[in-house]
Amino acid sequence: MTDGTARIDDVEVNLDIHLAHSARMYDYYLGGTTNFPADREAAGRALAVFPYARTAARANRAFMRRSTKLLAEAGIRQFLDIGTGIPTSPNLHEVAQSAAPDAKIVYADNDPIVLLHAQALLRGTEQGVTAYVQADVRAPGELLDAARGILDFTRPIALSMNALLHFVPSDAHRITEGLKAQLPSGSALVISHVTPDFAPEETARLIQVYTAAGTPVAACTRDEVTRFFTGWDLMEPGVVATPRWYPELAGDTEHITDAEASCYGAVAIRP
Ligand SMILES: C[S@@+](CC[C@H](N)C(=O)[O-])C[C@H]1O[C@@H](n2cnc3c(N)ncnc32)[C@H](O)[C@@H]1O
Repeated sequence: MTDGTARIDDVEVNLDIHLAHSARMYDYYLGGTTNFPADREAAGRALAVFPYARTAARANRAFMRRSTKLLAEAGIRQFLDIGTGIPTSPNLHEVAQSAAPDAKIVYADNDPIVLLHAQALLRGTEQGVTAYVQADVRAPGELLDAARGILDFTRPIALSMNALLHFVPSDAHRITEGLKAQLPSGSALVISHVTPDFAPEETARLIQVYTAAGTPVAACTRDEVTRFFTGWDLMEPGVVATPRWYPELAGDTEHITDAEASCYGAVAIRP
């Protein structure tokens, strides 16, 4: 890699290392090393106004692990994870395939840095399948076409969009409805989403930092997050701060407060 470009399968990819990217800022909060000075500078500004960013990211990852594990244990064998992020162990396929080795996982993200590191997402079980597609949730038709090559859309699929939809501010509900319509009965929808409900002033400042760094963000109230699940059956305990979703399984994130998490998480099943 030289000066922000990388080659993937002989294609030159521009990583825009002089601009902060949400995937790399999140990687920084989680203690990863796949980030550049512009990401660390923006993440530093975010931490100055929202000191819980690292804790919120940790609580969000733990919510992903619990929801994936419970759905795999409940019998779901296909997972479509949009806005996957830079690999952070354990990744979703590792959680799903440790409960169900034959699980099929399709990952999707629009950031080329995730594509660059996708090899780590593709090392799954021999019985299962893991695949990565470079795709944008704002072009759901193309994303689904790529996923259809791997997943069977006549059988239940767990669609997860964790810490993603706040990055598509004006369109998140319409896009989600379009994706839901393609999934059969028994499918699951897993969403985590930033909220202003618990720490309104800090969250407003966090949004300003991201927007100034070139990434517009919208936070959703509980009612707005609940609306993503319209028509599907919300699993207990409903729409709650991420550490409150099956807190007995939350391990060392159980004691994270709602304000520190500042993210709702929920899972619903299509009737
Ligand atoms: C905060 S990370 C969340 C990673 C992971 N889902 C998790 O919860 O741990 C958000 C991810 O969404 C991706 N993303 C942002 N906008 C996107 C879009 N329009 N289409 C696909 N992915 C997007 C970013 O590149 C980043 O990897």
